[in-house]
Formats: sequence, C-alpha cells, structure tokens
Amino acid sequence: MKFDLTPLLRPHIVNLQPYTSARDEYTGKEGIFLDANENPYGSVTDEEYNRYPDPYQEELKTEIAGIKNVKPSQIFLGNGSDEAIDLLFRAFCNPGKDNVILLPPTYGMYEVSAGINDVETRKVPLTADFQLQPDLILKETDENTKIIFVCSPNNPSGNKVEREDILKLLRNFHGLVVVDEAYIDFSDEPSFTNYLNEYGNLLVMQTFSKAWGLASLRLGMAFASKKMIKILNRIKPPYNISGLTQQTVLAAIQKVDKVNAMIADILQEREYLRKEISQLDFVEKIHPSHANFLLVKIPNAGHVYDDLIEEKIIVRNRSKVQLCEECLRISVGTRAENNAFIQALKKIHAESYNL
Ligand SMILES: Cc1ncc(COP(=O)(O)O)c(C=O)c1O
Repeated sequence: MKFDLTPLLRPHIVNLQPYTSARDEYTGKEGIFLDANENPYGSVTDEEYNRYPDPYQEELKTEIAGIKNVKPSQIFLGNGSDEAIDLLFRAFCNPGKDNVILLPPTYGMYEVSAGINDVETRKVPLTADFQLQPDLILKETDENTKIIFVCSPNNPSGNKVEREDILKLLRNFHGLVVVDEAYIDFSDEPSFTNYLNEYGNLLVMQTFSKAWGLASLRLGMAFASKKMIKILNRIKPPYNISGLTQQTVLAAIQKVDKVNAMIADILQEREYLRKEISQLDFVEKIHPSHANFLLVKIPNAGHVYDDLIEEKIIVRNRSKVQLCEECLRISVGTRAENNAFIQALKKIHAESYNL
C-alpha cells in the first residue's frame, strides 16, 4: 500500500525549523571549537565530558544497523523508548482533536503520553488469551485516528501477538502502526523490522533496557522509514543521547555473545520459575511467556503483593488491570532471587491459611 506520511503530521510540524548547532555546519573532528560555550579546560571528572555529543549518533547507528539488519537512516535513538513514544504524539496527534488506539492490558506509558499530550485514547481490549481483535480495532478508527499501539511480546501478559493480525492492521489502517518489541529478544518470533520496506506506516520499537541489561543508560530504538525517522530527528531535543551512553553502547555491541548468554540464562530461569510456581496448588494460572516475566493468577493477589513487600520482595501488582484480575507480574530473577520468591510465596500462603 502506498503510504503518504505528510497528511498524517500535525500541520505546524511539516514546516518546523529544527534547532541547528554549529556542528551541523562543520562536522570535522579537528579544530578550535569556540562555538558551543563548552569548558575548554576539560571536565571536573577524570573522564572528559566537556564536549557535546554527536546529535545524530551516527557511529552508534552504523553499529546498530549491522546487528538489526536495517539501514542507519531507518533508526531513531531516544532517551529510552519512552522518548520515542512521546515524540510520536507530538509529531502526529493534534491535542483535543486526534485520537490513538490502545489495546489493554498493555504498557502504561502509551496512555500516560497520550494524557500529557491531551490526546484521546480509544481502547479495544485484547481477547481472553491476549490476542488482537483486528476487525474491532479497525472499526474503532476514524479520520482523526493517528496511531495504533501494539505491544508484542505484550506487557503485562508476556505472550506474542499473532503476526497476521498485526499485518491486517498495517494493510488496512491509514495511520501509523507502532509495534513495541521491548521484549523481542526473549522470544523466538522474528522482528517486524523485516516488514519496514513493505509498510511505510510501520514503526518498530526496541530497547537496550531489557535483554542488554542497560536500563540505567536509557537507550531506546525506533525503526521506520527514512522519512519518519527524519521527522523524529527534527523534533527531538538536540543532544538527547549522552556521550557516555553512546560510548558505552558502542562497546557493548561488540559483546553480542555475552548478551546471548544472558538471554539463554534468563530463558532457563523463566522455565525454572514457571515449573516451581506450577507446583504450588493455590496458583490458578501461569500465562505463557515470550518475555522475561511471568503473569501469574493467585487468589487475593493484592494481599499477596503486600505480604511480599513485607518480605522485601517486590513484584508488579496487576490485580486491578482489565483481563489481569488477581494477577501478579513477576520478573525473572537469578536462581537465588527466584528461590527466595518461591519460598516467600509458600510462607505467605501457609500463614494466611494457618497451615
Ligand atoms: C513494552 C515496553 N515498552 C517500552 C518500555 C520502556 O523502555 P525504555 O526503558 O527503553 O524506555 C517498557 C518498559 O518496561 C515496556 O515494557
């Protein structure tokens, strides 16, 4: 399907003049730099951070392109995926007029970002086994619907979403389909980046926060058409990715073997945790997971959550979330952490029934 991005954009974004720095005009590394009011003596720290970083992260994008099988021009880097989510609202959604479609239960930031940007959210719940209802979703759209947010593997349920259903949205929706793949590294499912050249309305998000173990650095990726990436680059804060993050991730990318070993460990622990929890007769359901967490249905989940906190074990209470009633979301920990969780769960259950 031929896709024209421009009519979807907020009108003032089409002609917006982005911030430019002197380094956009002079890209050489050698010279006497008296353009950016930096400190010429260096930094107060042992490492030197006195110069502003590359605003478009070219070196890092070249490396990421290599491991993700996309072109550098198809990559946007944000201060976490959350920055990309916010920029999408700012680029495409007119406050008080446009709307987006959310598919609950799903990742909470889509709704928060919509709220910050004063954009209406229309909700089409997932099915009981957390799959899309594409026909209902499409029915809910109108000419002011700008984005559909799909999360696969889904947070908080952990399952992967049927590929054909997402493709149906891509083929039949006039606006953007965002596929959030924050947990894709824990799944056997191929990435939707494979469809970037086919669908101009596709934007895929991934992150260094999960499998790569770099949550504190804040580095999220968005993959889309060259035109869409240009828009995001025009509206982002000029130096949104710190030099320290760029350098650290450049080095991290050379350690793909270590990442793969950590993923293998997490998958093994996910299975261990699943087996151990499945042996507790009071547990009602463990939802199948393609992510690094399990969604588990337990009677009185809210109380169990509070009791776990007393034991200094913190999980995510999803017991009041639609379709996740009485459920806790448990991140896969190390073997020792997983065992501590299981022991605490057994103890809480025994105490509450005076066993
Ligand atoms: C589905 C999903 N998308 C995005 C994020 C945020 O990622 P980042 O740390 O890159 O902002 C999370 C974090 O939990 C998530 O669950």
